Amino acid sequence: MPPPIDFDRIPRDQLPWLLRKMPKAELHIHIEGTLEPELIFTLAQRNGVNLAYPGVEALREAYAFTNLQSFLDIYYAGTSVLRQEQDFCDMAWDYLEKAAADHVVRAEIFFDPQTHTERGVSIGTVIRGLRRACQRANSELGVSADLILCFLRHLSEDAAFETLGQALPYREHIIGVGLDSSEIGHPPEKFARVYARCRELGLNAVAHAGEEGPPAYISGALDMLEVQRIDHGVRSADDPELLQRLAASRLPLTVCPLSNVKLRVCRTLAEHPLPALLSAGLCATVNSDDPAYFGGYINDNFLALFEALPQWGAREAWQLASNSFEASFVPPAQKAIWQAELDRLFAAAVV
Ligand code: ADE
Ligand code: ZN
Repeated sequence: MPPPIDFDRIPRDQLPWLLRKMPKAELHIHIEGTLEPELIFTLAQRNGVNLAYPGVEALREAYAFTNLQSFLDIYYAGTSVLRQEQDFCDMAWDYLEKAAADHVVRAEIFFDPQTHTERGVSIGTVIRGLRRACQRANSELGVSADLILCFLRHLSEDAAFETLGQALPYREHIIGVGLDSSEIGHPPEKFARVYARCRELGLNAVAHAGEEGPPAYISGALDMLEVQRIDHGVRSADDPELLQRLAASRLPLTVCPLSNVKLRVCRTLAEHPLPALLSAGLCATVNSDDPAYFGGYINDNFLALFEALPQWGAREAWQLASNSFEASFVPPAQKAIWQAELDRLFAAAVV
């Protein structure tokens, strides 16, 4: 239930300030997608890795994507510089500092262990490095951060089971599992048995679905993987029955507007389905996906979106931030604390 805030009496020129300042949770962020070109070159030098590009500018110029796969090819190549625990810690710390500046109070961070274990980097090196940055963010930045292990869906079910086994000694450092990488041709049911095992282990479950893939992949993730959130899910807008199901259950979607435009999931932000999803009553949230590659962190996503959607105002800003807390994997008492902070900020902006 929205609080008794008179959103219509919040001036529109206050909106950019509110969007920046409002407390929010980021629930769809690939830590490898936060690797900025500058850090790629620093780590390449640290680890003696040769890169195919002469410098930062040349690398940035290669970020001209036509679809998900054209992005993934460059994204996986960028991870080749990550070798030591400290590299993973530095990458996550850089993100968490930017998140704190954007008033992210909660980050549920994806990582792709198979991208690293395939190169001979142990899963322990990856998790220990990321975990150290999360703990430091908690104590020094006041950002609550946890890790979600993602299986690469273009690899086999056996490979996912093997990765899960490797992660078991670090079970306490992982709050859930996800599914990412090339979507089309890799339907959710391929991973039904792995997810069943993850649920037995008490892990939360999310999955990318309906980014490029059809609405049936979203229903598949709900029915076969029993996920608690859908990552992207924008193709649900094509299926009225599915929309109704998502609205009735308030099963959250973690939507990434700038990513969708860069990967040509939709043509422009003005044509993005998010307004339709929000109006239909879905628990949709705004996130940055791979901000180093898509031109912006979470506040850049909020600001660009509201700039492109003149019909949106303070009510929608509040709703999106509120949804991010509702959708997060934290105890209800913690959600209530952040929600009250959000309500206070908006109530104070009423004139
Ligand atoms: N891995 C990193 N970003 C991704 C995206 N947007 N979709 C699928 N897999 C990803
Ligand atoms: Zn993603």
